[in-house]
Amino acid sequence: MKDKISKIVSLAKRRGFIFPSSEIYGGFESGYDFGPLGVEMKRNIKQLWWSEMIKNHEDVVGLDAAILMSPKVWQASGHLTAGFADTLVECKECHKRFKKDEIKEKACPECGGELTKPRKFNLMMKTFVGPVEEEASETYLRAETCQGIYMNFENVLESMRLKIPFGICQIGKAFRNEITPKNFIFRTREFEQMELQWFCHPKEVDKWFNFWKKERVKWYKKLGIKKENLRTREVPAKTRAHYAKRQVDIEYKFPFGWGEIEGIHNRGDWDLSNHSEHSGKDLRYFDEETKEKYFPYIVETSVGVERPLFAFLVDTYQEIKGGRTKTTKSTKEIEILLKLHKSLAPIKVAVLPLVRNKPELIKKAKEVYKLLKPHFVCQYDEIGSIGRRYRRVDEIGAPFALTVDFESLKQNDLTIRDRDTMKQERVKIEDLVKVLKEKLEG
Ligand code: GAP
Repeated sequence: MKDKISKIVSLAKRRGFIFPSSEIYGGFESGYDFGPLGVEMKRNIKQLWWSEMIKNHEDVVGLDAAILMSPKVWQASGHLTAGFADTLVECKECHKRFKKDEIKEKACPECGGELTKPRKFNLMMKTFVGPVEEEASETYLRAETCQGIYMNFENVLESMRLKIPFGICQIGKAFRNEITPKNFIFRTREFEQMELQWFCHPKEVDKWFNFWKKERVKWYKKLGIKKENLRTREVPAKTRAHYAKRQVDIEYKFPFGWGEIEGIHNRGDWDLSNHSEHSGKDLRYFDEETKEKYFPYIVETSVGVERPLFAFLVDTYQEIKGGRTKTTKSTKEIEILLKLHKSLAPIKVAVLPLVRNKPELIKKAKEVYKLLKPHFVCQYDEIGSIGRRYRRVDEIGAPFALTVDFESLKQNDLTIRDRDTMKQERVKIEDLVKVLKEKLEG
């Protein structure tokens, strides 16, 4: 099963999804670059998440806060102290971290795996602002995007004239100096988070926690994740994040085991009350109707873009022994099919002339490609036999392949091949944009 990961890593590189960072210098530990297909898929995930939050929920607004903030933010949030600066050992197998003075065993108390050497460990990535590298100019790359949301709680509340309950969502890079980055893009030191902070009355926090938990699970199912590969897990108090009163992880069944793809947290008033205390600015909310002044509780949904992207690749990757087409004797190799949901697929349409050595066909196919390009992310491919090109289309999960053949020259039409059924239908070129829009959006 672990083999599946290496196959996906290889496909991701071969077909332009994900490349190792700084490869010509031998790579850079745990760094990955998203290639032309990877960046499209990432954009699709972010766009789907953003419109889910903003369009499907009335009281959610967006924000894009700076990565670099005052180091006082991280002091107040507990990231420089609580649970982040202890002497830790980490299990090399299951990645559980333990405070050195709290365990007696030499091996991991959970799984018996080998432990790393004890060290003072803080996940924050330190950097310097300005030309002088001294303590006064030290700050950190953000370890979670939500702190920028808390910094703007009052700005957003006032400028948008919002009332509790409401949410602020944000997408952006986060950085953690992980001890053991691992499992391809699952655990890296630089990743992109999509976070919602939902501000509500403390008495309503359980209701909203359950609401957002359901909403988030529904989102993954809507995007085609197989039910049996998805679960939620209530995280016990001793392994919860330092700010969480309650934590439920949404987990995916990766070939290396169940892994967290998203965390739902009840952060209580941890953040707003700590920032009030440290900054001297009263961040309590005043309810005009009840005249009550209180710190709202926060329900957070937090996911890195890379983990669901990885899960979608794993979930949809299929190998078909002997090939998908049983009609020709020549197709006896293993064929790869990536059955990505249409909205996630990086390339929506491939345009293929039937053969390469007929200039009229090439000309017509290029006209079709030009016609479609402003509407869909598409790819033009004339290299190799048509069978081989269909396989390349299946391998990148493009939902539709269009073939311009000899009939096309007479009838001004072409065939649309459906990736999943392999059925082909003829469509007039003048109707193409409309038909494809219906198929992709329907
Ligand atoms: N603001 C809350 C927060 O950051 P978290 O559970 O530490 O909570 C949330 O992280 C999500 O961010 C995770 O579920 C995962 O999707 C992603 N994430 C965290 N650390 C990561 C890493 N080192 N590499 C990739 N993604 C990561």
